[in-house]
Amino acid sequence: MSVKYIAEPFRIKMVEPLRILTREEREAKLAEARYNMFNLKGEDCYIDLLTDSGTNAMSQNQWSAMMRGDEAYAGASSYFRLQASAKEIFGFEYIQPTHQGRAAEKVLMPLFMGEGKYAISNLFFDTTRAHIILSGGRPLDCVDPRAKDPALRAKFKGNMDLEAMERCILEHGADKIGVVVLTVTNNGAGGQPVSMENIRQVSQMCKKYSIPLNIDAARYAENAFFIKRDEEGYAHKSIREIVKEMFSYADTFTMSSKKDAIVNMGGLIGVKDGSSPLIPAIKSNCINFEGFVTYGGLNGRDLDALAVGLQEGVEDDYLKYRIGQMEYMAARLDDAGIAYQSPVGGHGVFVDGQAMFPHIPYTEFPAHVLAVELYKEAGIRSCEIGSFMLGNDPDTNEQLKATAEFTRLAIPRRVYTQAHLDVICDALINIKARAHEIKHGYRITWEPPIMRHFQAFLEPIK
Ligand code: F0G
Repeated sequence: MSVKYIAEPFRIKMVEPLRILTREEREAKLAEARYNMFNLKGEDCYIDLLTDSGTNAMSQNQWSAMMRGDEAYAGASSYFRLQASAKEIFGFEYIQPTHQGRAAEKVLMPLFMGEGKYAISNLFFDTTRAHIILSGGRPLDCVDPRAKDPALRAKFKGNMDLEAMERCILEHGADKIGVVVLTVTNNGAGGQPVSMENIRQVSQMCKKYSIPLNIDAARYAENAFFIKRDEEGYAHKSIREIVKEMFSYADTFTMSSKKDAIVNMGGLIGVKDGSSPLIPAIKSNCINFEGFVTYGGLNGRDLDALAVGLQEGVEDDYLKYRIGQMEYMAARLDDAGIAYQSPVGGHGVFVDGQAMFPHIPYTEFPAHVLAVELYKEAGIRSCEIGSFMLGNDPDTNEQLKATAEFTRLAIPRRVYTQAHLDVICDALINIKARAHEIKHGYRITWEPPIMRHFQAFLEPIK
């Protein structure tokens, strides 16, 4: 193996015990959960890779900052500490806290959208897509076509396809495009980064057609790390400088702070221009949906934890270790011939479930088969990002076919050790050895009309 594990730049002072069920117990839990990973209890999962969102370990500095939390309804000092921290990192003049990322979207997206409008992205995250639709608009995805080939090892596969973007603008008319959303890193494409060159070009095109550019900033620090590592001209810049440049090209950002800001709950909206007419409208929506502007649905102590987490999330040593965890797992999977969205992205390993089970059709959800097998094998919880998640055609009700069938192993920040990562890789290797014995996938026995993967019931096909 060519990749060395990068040791944690911290030591552990508080532990959370884990419980390991027997294989028989795990099989019973799966049946009880109707084979839906969201129906499993957290305590029944030995290693929980369902998401990297809100599952991060906070530092001693974050926990101690929480003790300073000022719970004043209006004008809490926690809010001013958060503002100062965020302004320093992003260089934006207005910062609005919200309780999480989708709340930021709910506040901001209606201000750009309306009936008959469109929004363009390098790939919308589910909730962003939902808020575009809920505000009367239609989402258009223009991801770099290289993202659709998991075996293709190319840099910055999360980029916007600029030609496709311009085609969308010309087809619908620039006045019909409410906003362009650049998701960094690109979650739907497997945590693949977006290059600075691409951000700059997207920004130039937005200016050319007078369309506002919003960054979906959930994993902005991981994206900056990839720019530093892989893009010409950035090796000697600090992560902080790179972040500043990334955001200098945007007008606004929405952020789920539950990822790179290393907290368990929180979100942000940023507006570059402090005199923007968006700001009073953001404040009004925030007061209606989230709470008064200086707390935005969060406790004062949450604002303080976020103020500190933003600073820790852009530290070089932390990011080297963080991306190092992904690189370590990817190298072990390479040795074992296990396919994944490559090169590995920032927040997890997206294993190619179709390559693991080539004989199982997309209608039987091969990546969900792998998620179930990982739980049976070692108590690891992951989730399917493929045809099961995609759902049915709203007009014909036929099962849609996803461009890739991924099993997402999302890695929480500062939580699992090298030995845990080995348990995950060993489990994948064991499953691969017996993959041909697993002949069939799953059928859905009940599903709600939208976002079905959170609630659907499934059963194994005999
Ligand atoms: N944008 C991106 C790129 C996301 O990945 C998420 C959440 C959101 C927005 C919404 O933020 O959860 O704070 O409301 N992603 C999580 C995930 C849920 O598991 O990937 P939220």
